[in-house]
Amino acid sequence: MANVIIVGAQWGDEGKGKVVDIYTEHAQQVVRFQGGNNAGHTLVVGDEKTVLHLIPSGILHEGKRCIIGNGVVLDPKIFLEEIDGLKKKGYLKDDGQLLVDGAVNLIMPYHRAIDIAREHKAGGKKIGTTGRGIGPTYEDKVGRRGIRFADLLKPETFARKLKDVLPEKNFYLENFLGEKPLSESAILDEYLAYAERLRGYLGNASIEVNLAIKAGDNVLFEGAQGSLLDVDHGTYPYVTSSSTIAGGACTGVGVGPGLIDAVIGITKAYVTRVGEGPFPTELHDEMGEQIRKTGSEFGATTGRPRRTGWLDIVALREAVRTNGLTGLALTKMDVLNELDTIKVCTAYRYKDQLIENFPADLDILRDCTPVYEEVPGWQQDINYVKEYEQLPAKAIDYVEKIESWTGCPVVLVSVGPRRDETMVRKNPFA
Ligand code: GDP
Ligand code: IMO
Ligand code: MG
Repeated sequence: MANVIIVGAQWGDEGKGKVVDIYTEHAQQVVRFQGGNNAGHTLVVGDEKTVLHLIPSGILHEGKRCIIGNGVVLDPKIFLEEIDGLKKKGYLKDDGQLLVDGAVNLIMPYHRAIDIAREHKAGGKKIGTTGRGIGPTYEDKVGRRGIRFADLLKPETFARKLKDVLPEKNFYLENFLGEKPLSESAILDEYLAYAERLRGYLGNASIEVNLAIKAGDNVLFEGAQGSLLDVDHGTYPYVTSSSTIAGGACTGVGVGPGLIDAVIGITKAYVTRVGEGPFPTELHDEMGEQIRKTGSEFGATTGRPRRTGWLDIVALREAVRTNGLTGLALTKMDVLNELDTIKVCTAYRYKDQLIENFPADLDILRDCTPVYEEVPGWQQDINYVKEYEQLPAKAIDYVEKIESWTGCPVVLVSVGPRRDETMVRKNPFA
């Protein structure tokens, strides 16, 4: 029996969806604990690609319980669209496979409107958010004026809470952001129509997950975004608004930390970032373009081109520490197939100092320059390799160097988007 947390160890889009899909084979429950539909998790089964924004990435496995924990923020429109899309493809035959915790905060139309208008108004100082209303929804949650999933299922409560909160939102939208106010009756009609379809998914994530653990089931906790986008430990303010690190799984579901057996951080063999904010190893040259092209680095949620750069061990060590990673899953190694030399940043230079810990102060981080080590490339197609030991010696050397620089074992190596392009070196559920 083991309970495993998966987190992004960089700035998101590391391949969490693929790894969760692979690991689901060993789990009975897959649980999202934070974020919302800012996430875009891609699963490729055979030739079929599925992108999930809200529903846990275990959903393609029949009979595996998929749970949305209290720490998630949920846009009911997107959630229903995702359900419909999955059913159309023949998944989610039994609605009992899916459960949403009653304390999940709802993304409301004013949250989306505020997110988009604020970014517009900020101009050059924008965060580069996904525009899905994530930040404003978490603000209301912490400000104790959020509307929760369970409230939506009680029409009078929902109407009362909306009536209480909307005047303040409209005042802000109109007078500060210069936007049109939103109509209370239109929101009421729209959301109460969703409520009828959502009723059957209501449950208590903490009870379900703890019962399963007591019964000896394996639970997989699926993080969204990445450790460097964490609201406390990331490159603040260029972060998302939730606790993306492993600790977030406990508060975002209601499980005790003592029940967690392993924490796996997903990292690409290089780095990408979408949106604004510091990125010390970013490449602005041909090489960056080549990685973007070979790795198809375009956002799964917004379609934006992802910024690309060399693997950053200083940043990765930060993720190893803040998450207490017990293993790394290394993805997209195949994207580096053609390179004769691969650079890896193992320290930063700040003024005349060498820094090995990721600076918490953004002003210092901005002035850091990467110190690179060069590693020879394997210059072979590795997509077809099925056993780790059969990788070219130079590819194995790259993996082992990452282990020694981070002090964390690489437990999975991914060499393509599909399920069968994966080498499991150590199964965290075993
Ligand atoms: P997530 O948000 O962490 O789940 O990652 P995304 O789905 O946003 O982005 C990862 C992208 O890389 C998706 O298009 C995956 O299908 C793809 N992918 C995952 N692992 C690999 C890999 O090992 N090699 C290649 N070439 N693509 C991969
Ligand atoms: P997955 O789960 C990559 C980024 C946005 C922006 C910042 C804040 O697919 O890895 P937000 O809309 O959350 O307020 O935006 O966070 N961001 C992501 N980047 N992958 C994600 O999710 C992301 N979710 C948010 O681009 O910089
Ligand atoms: Mg993604």
